[in-house]
Amino acid sequence: IAVDPFDLVVFGATGDLAYRKLLPALFHRHRDGQLPDVSRIIAASRRKLSDDDYRKLTEDALTKFVPAAEREPEHVASFLKRIFYVSVDAKIDDEGWPELGRVLEEGKDRVRAFYLAVSPDLFGVICEGIGAHGLITPETRVIIEKPIGKSLASATALNDAVGKVFKESQIYRIDHYLGKETVQNLMALRFANALFEPLWNAAHIDHVQITVAENLGVESRAGYYDTAGALRDMVQNHILQLLCLVAMEPPNQFEADAMRDEKLKVLRSLKPITASDLEAVTVRGQYRAGASAGGPVPGYLQELGSDDSVTETFVALKAEIENWRWSGVPFYIRTGKRLPARLSEIVVSFKSIPHSIFGSAAGQLVSNQLVMRLQPDEGVRLWLMIKDPGPGGMRLRHVPLDMSFAQTFKVRSPEAYERLLMDVIRGNATLFMRRDEVEAAWKWIDPILDGWAASRESPKAYTAGTWGPSSAIALIERDGRTWHEEID
Ligand code: BG6
Repeated sequence: IAVDPFDLVVFGATGDLAYRKLLPALFHRHRDGQLPDVSRIIAASRRKLSDDDYRKLTEDALTKFVPAAEREPEHVASFLKRIFYVSVDAKIDDEGWPELGRVLEEGKDRVRAFYLAVSPDLFGVICEGIGAHGLITPETRVIIEKPIGKSLASATALNDAVGKVFKESQIYRIDHYLGKETVQNLMALRFANALFEPLWNAAHIDHVQITVAENLGVESRAGYYDTAGALRDMVQNHILQLLCLVAMEPPNQFEADAMRDEKLKVLRSLKPITASDLEAVTVRGQYRAGASAGGPVPGYLQELGSDDSVTETFVALKAEIENWRWSGVPFYIRTGKRLPARLSEIVVSFKSIPHSIFGSAAGQLVSNQLVMRLQPDEGVRLWLMIKDPGPGGMRLRHVPLDMSFAQTFKVRSPEAYERLLMDVIRGNATLFMRRDEVEAAWKWIDPILDGWAASRESPKAYTAGTWGPSSAIALIERDGRTWHEEID
């Protein structure tokens, strides 16, 4: 369904995010006929470029980041007609601002969205420029993205800076994990089926695992990454958002504030990790040279070109939620770069049966697991015990009821940004983070960072291409459990 006419201004239009994610996502929405004819993409950055120069850059980006089979020349040509370019420096008296104002004037009745695909240091000054130059109409929104701060204090300062110019209801904080199909499916699974919700609590669930593994290293992003590390880069935002969606109470409707109120309650119920727990419930690692995808790869420090960084490229944690539903149910989290595969999944492990009527000859009974795979091959698997087929007596086996979205639906699965950008235009903030959520997440993360900073230990080394330091395995095995590892 087509969205309302809009003008989308992308600040930082010559950056990686624009080329890699935003332009391809908008192209796909264009190709599917979702963008009204008048809608424009107004690229903005400091560089002096013409509309045509930027159209050329857009074409290059599409060639690089959209598969050839999805890139018909006529669609590319019509998409490029939507693209305009304004050279503007963030400084408030830059002459680019009035020019941007003139370009926008033509669409003054349209939805107007400003995407700040720039370093967070510039959020405040760009918002000020937008406000001071009178570019905010009643239908204006602003989109910002992580890193929203490096700590609670810096996140609060950033939110204050943006909040000086925009109302909270106009601010869309992107966490692209919320736009992933499986993440939305988690909502469908939990709240559109009667089957799971009665079991979704400490009485029936033994523990939950959330793994977001990447096989890539940090490569060209080492400069940014070294100031962040895995806890800030992945856990504070993406993984805590996943945890919230698994753990939250049913909101009364699938609507922005109803959802965000429930997620916030989860974040506020996270048991603080204190300095004395730190060693027992957190593990940080940093990769050394090893192998990935069949070839040798350098270690983190070599990629960074330094020999004294203590930035973690892997983290494993045991989190607990102190409320009635989840008391005593650990949530094990792990994420890292240069792990054996790109694999993201949420595993809900149910309790074992109270008593087995089958003798030992039946084999080992394994408890049920619901596995939601975010990537690759999005899908849902429900692991059950069944009888091994054949006349050989009652032998039991653990097998999945398996639903792969690609095989079941045979349609292209949209990228997260496609869904999220259209939601901004529609004014639907359900899949975006509210200020209080971001700050509550930092409040839980800060003491972990502080504890690590104060400790004299460095991250544990792990070889690229392995599942992180052995202490991550010990973290879960101490509790008599194991990481779920299922690579197809
Ligand atoms: C980003 C992180 O937010 O998410 C990156 O900054 C990470 O370090 C990326 O690689 C992972 O996203 P996806 O969608 O590829 O799982």
